[in-house]
Amino acid sequence: MAPTSQRVDITPAQETLSPVEPCIFVIFGGSGDLARRRLIPALYNLLLDGLLPSNYVVLGLGRTAMSDEEFRASVRDGVVKHSRQALVEDPWNSFARHVFYLAGDNNDPQTYTRLKARAEELERSFQLPGNRIFYLSIPPSSFTPVCDGLAGSGLAGVPATRSPYARIIVEKPIGRDLASAQAINRVTGRVFDESQIFRIDHYLGKETVQNLMVVRFANSIFEPIWNHKYIDHVQITVSETEGVGTRATYYEEAGALRDMVQNHMLQLLFLVAMEPPYSLASDVVRNSKMEVLRCLRPITAKDVEQFTVRAQYTKGTAHGKPMPGYRCEKGVKPDSTTETYVALKCFVENWRWSGVPFYLRTGKALPLRASEVAVQFKDTPQILFNANSQMPQAPNVLTLRIQPEEGLSLRIVSRVPGTRGQTHPVEMNFKYGEVFGRPSPEAYERLLLDVMAGDASRFMRRDAVEASWAWITTILDAWEKLEQRWLPEYQAGTWGPVEADRLIQDDGRTWQIP
Ligand code: BG6
Repeated sequence: MAPTSQRVDITPAQETLSPVEPCIFVIFGGSGDLARRRLIPALYNLLLDGLLPSNYVVLGLGRTAMSDEEFRASVRDGVVKHSRQALVEDPWNSFARHVFYLAGDNNDPQTYTRLKARAEELERSFQLPGNRIFYLSIPPSSFTPVCDGLAGSGLAGVPATRSPYARIIVEKPIGRDLASAQAINRVTGRVFDESQIFRIDHYLGKETVQNLMVVRFANSIFEPIWNHKYIDHVQITVSETEGVGTRATYYEEAGALRDMVQNHMLQLLFLVAMEPPYSLASDVVRNSKMEVLRCLRPITAKDVEQFTVRAQYTKGTAHGKPMPGYRCEKGVKPDSTTETYVALKCFVENWRWSGVPFYLRTGKALPLRASEVAVQFKDTPQILFNANSQMPQAPNVLTLRIQPEEGLSLRIVSRVPGTRGQTHPVEMNFKYGEVFGRPSPEAYERLLLDVMAGDASRFMRRDAVEASWAWITTILDAWEKLEQRWLPEYQAGTWGPVEADRLIQDDGRTWQIP
C-alpha cells in the first residue's frame, strides 16, 4: 500500500463505473448561462476522460433564435472560459458534431411536436436506441408546460420503463417553501415516475462531499467515536467571498437559508450524522439520510431567536476591493430584509447525537471561500497535560475540507521538543491535490454521468426535498412572525455579525476560522 504522502495516479479508466448507454441529452434553457458555464463544459470533459457513451447527441432548446452553428460557437466560448480541462481542437470538433439546437417557446405546444420530430431524426441518424434525458434549466413556473408537453408528445416515454429510458433532471430552486416544493413535485410526478426524476444538488457531486461517507465508513478508527460520547459538537461552514453579483432578482426571493441551507448544508449535515447504510444502493443511502431529517428538532417561533441569526452585509472591502452593501447592490430593494448570512444551531435527536449541537453558518461577502465540516471532540480529563484550567488544551478537531484545498486535517496535541515539557496543537494534513495528482472532476460531470447510468444515490428524493422544506419553512414562518425591518449587519469582508459569535459563545464555544 502506498504511504499517504506518496503521490497516487489513477486514470479515469481505472475507476469502477456503471455502464452508460447511448442517449440524447436535451437541455431546456439551452441558450442560458447554466448550459454554457456548467452543462456543456461538463459533457465535454466527460468526453475528454473517455466517459461519454459511444454515441450521443446534445440538443439545446431555448427561446433565442440560433442555428446549430451559432449554438456551437456560443457553447465553445463557454468551454474555453469555464471548462476544467482546456479546449483541444480535435476532440472539440468531434464533440461539436454531436451538438444541435432547436429554437422554441416552452409554452407553445408546437414546440414539443417539433422537438419530437428533431429528436427522432437525430436518433435515426446517430443510431441511438431512444434513451432520452431532459434537463430542466428553466424557472419552476415553466415546469408545468414542459412536463405536459413532454407527456403529450410521447417524449416522456412510459413511466418506469427501463429501456429505452426517459429521465428528467430538475435544477434548483425546487420551491421556496414546503407548499411550492410540493407543487413542483406534483407537476413532475404526474408525468414521470420517481425513478425517472433526478433532482440536482450540485454539492452532492463534489468529490470531497462524496468522501465524507468514505472517511466515516471505510476507516475503522472513526465510527466507534462518532457519537455523543466523544464528539463535543460539529460545525458546518460554507463561506463565500462574492456578493450577490448579477443574481439579485433570484436572491431577493431566496436569501441564504433557502439558497444554501435547505439544500447544500443540510446534505452535508446528513452525511455527517447518518447511520451506516447497509449497502450503497441509492435508496438505502437515501433512507439513511432521510432518518437524520426525521430526527432534526424543529426550530419553532419560541426558540428561533436563540437558535438562529440572519444578517446582511454592509459596505466593506473584499480582497482589497471596495464592495457595496447588500441594499445598494443592483436589483436589491433599498429596504430589503433578505438575509445574506445565516447561522444556526440544531440538534439531531437520536441516540447517537443526543445533546450534540450542530452549528451551521453560511454567508456571502465573507473573507474566504471555504466549505468545511469541523468535528470537535471532547476535552481530555483535566489531569496530566490538561490539568491547568487557566490554559486548557486545544481539543482534537477533524476538519473535512470540501473546497478549496480539498482534503482533511486532524488537530492533535504534541509535545514541543525541548526540556520544558510544553505541549502544542499540530495539524496532520491530507490534500487531495498532492496525493492524487489530478484535479477532481467538476460536480456536474459526476452528476450528469450518474443520470446517464441511472444512479440516483447522489440526487434528492421527493420525500427528502419535502421534509427539508418543511424544516426550513418552520424557521421561515418563525422569522416572519418577528417582523424585523432591519437585520443585524456585518461588514463585507468580515466573518459575519457579532450575534453569530454570541450564538456559539453562549455555549462556551467558538467558530473555527477556515
Ligand atoms: C448555489 C447557490 O446553489 O451554490 C449560490 O445558488 C452559491 O448562491 C453556490 O454561490 C455555491 O456553490 P459552490 O459550488 O461555488 O460552493
